[in-house]
Amino acid sequence: MKNPLTPNWLETPPNLSELDPRIWPRTAKRNERGELSVGGQTASDLVRQFGSPLYVVDQEDFESRLMSTRRAFSDAAQKIGTTAKCYYASKALLTTEVVRWVDQAGLSIDVSTSGELAVALAAGIEGPRIGLHGNNKSLVEIGRAISAGVGAIVIDSELEIERIASVASAQDKVQAVRLRVNTGVHAFTHEYLATAREDQKFGIALVDVPDMVEKIRSHSQLKFLGLHSHIGSQIFVVDGFIAAAERLLDVHAKLLAGGDVPELNLGGGFGISYTQADRPLPLDEMAGRITTAVAQKCEQLGIPVPALAFEPGRVIAGPAGITIYSVGTLKDVQVTDQGTAATRKYVSVDGGMSDNIRSALYEAEYSATIASRSSDAEATLSRVVGKHCESGDIVVRHALLPADVSVNDLLAVPATGAYCFSLSSNYNYLPRPAVIAVKGGSVKVLIRAETERDLLGRDAGYEPGEA
Ligand SMILES: Cc1ncc(COP(=O)(O)O)c(C=O)c1O
Repeated sequence: MKNPLTPNWLETPPNLSELDPRIWPRTAKRNERGELSVGGQTASDLVRQFGSPLYVVDQEDFESRLMSTRRAFSDAAQKIGTTAKCYYASKALLTTEVVRWVDQAGLSIDVSTSGELAVALAAGIEGPRIGLHGNNKSLVEIGRAISAGVGAIVIDSELEIERIASVASAQDKVQAVRLRVNTGVHAFTHEYLATAREDQKFGIALVDVPDMVEKIRSHSQLKFLGLHSHIGSQIFVVDGFIAAAERLLDVHAKLLAGGDVPELNLGGGFGISYTQADRPLPLDEMAGRITTAVAQKCEQLGIPVPALAFEPGRVIAGPAGITIYSVGTLKDVQVTDQGTAATRKYVSVDGGMSDNIRSALYEAEYSATIASRSSDAEATLSRVVGKHCESGDIVVRHALLPADVSVNDLLAVPATGAYCFSLSSNYNYLPRPAVIAVKGGSVKVLIRAETERDLLGRDAGYEPGEA
């Protein structure tokens, strides 16, 4: 009988050890002993070398997603007689090596802070391939970006117009800028992931855009590229992107009366499968439907189709990454829900909200499998939890795990490549895990694991030798 605590969307697969290719990285498989391997490396070998928890990136998967994402947008744009620039949204997962993959695949990169900019520049990507975002850019950040020759800065508020113009002037440069617009489109996603509702911090209201663009155009140090919108993240359906594009194009058409508007940037936010129940529209279909709608709207307005730009992050990095944990403690908890008593197995692992805050922050759902072996045991409704001092420290809220899950098993959680390492913390003084890339049987460390010495090293009262 189905455990009554099981949510409706969670179905028991015929084989719990099977790896659904929609959720697992391209090279993930089980070897003859039933162990999970990625990039030709088994989970247990990786943990022996690099410790647990461990972020593992399937490099082949990541690289192929860079190429296929770029191709999806450029093919779709070509069909409507224009071009599409693809910026990898580096906040999803950023290391110098990742920037090199992005560079080699011919994408540009979007950064939001001086720190992200520093990583991109350290990896050697050229300034013109970088776009700078951020709703509160400091003068120092703007100065650094302009002196690096970034291809575009996205203006997020009226104040920034003067700020960017004055820094560009001081450096005797002309800076290309876009204007981020809050289109008011309500993307169907978690509230904290929806970034174009009226009541939030990003962008300029549609009605204010003409005045802002006039101000931008009044500065000879600024070159106006066009409008930008990012409606949110983890979006499965195309309607929000189309609605935002149409609203932007209405204003874009009016702006043409005052000068050039060569581009339209529609941001990122394309969703991925975290569980078997997640069915996002495939990216090439999404891209095709957006560009078709753009072409139709431009025809209706009687304007040329602008060059397009997109900023995907999650759809590239997310499915390429997994996190491996070790099981430490197990507990069967009796739960009474609306008069029905049922058991939920709590499986505690050696990480938690410090390496994956998404479950706590967005009520994100994940899935999990035993990585160190396969099992024929029947499915038991489980909750994978971390070791932090919060009852909301949940890694996988609803996991179907084999009933024989045991202490010292390795557990793997797929689709953790985006917004896990980049949102990680040292809560409870847990050192952050290593990030490694695997490909064709070889391993590269992207970020080494933190140590307690790293953490103590920032404590000004610490005398080396004490611990
Ligand atoms: C301005 C902007 N562009 C692109 C992205 C990338 O979104 P995603 O990773 O969902 O594609 C974000 C994410 O927050 C963003 O804020």
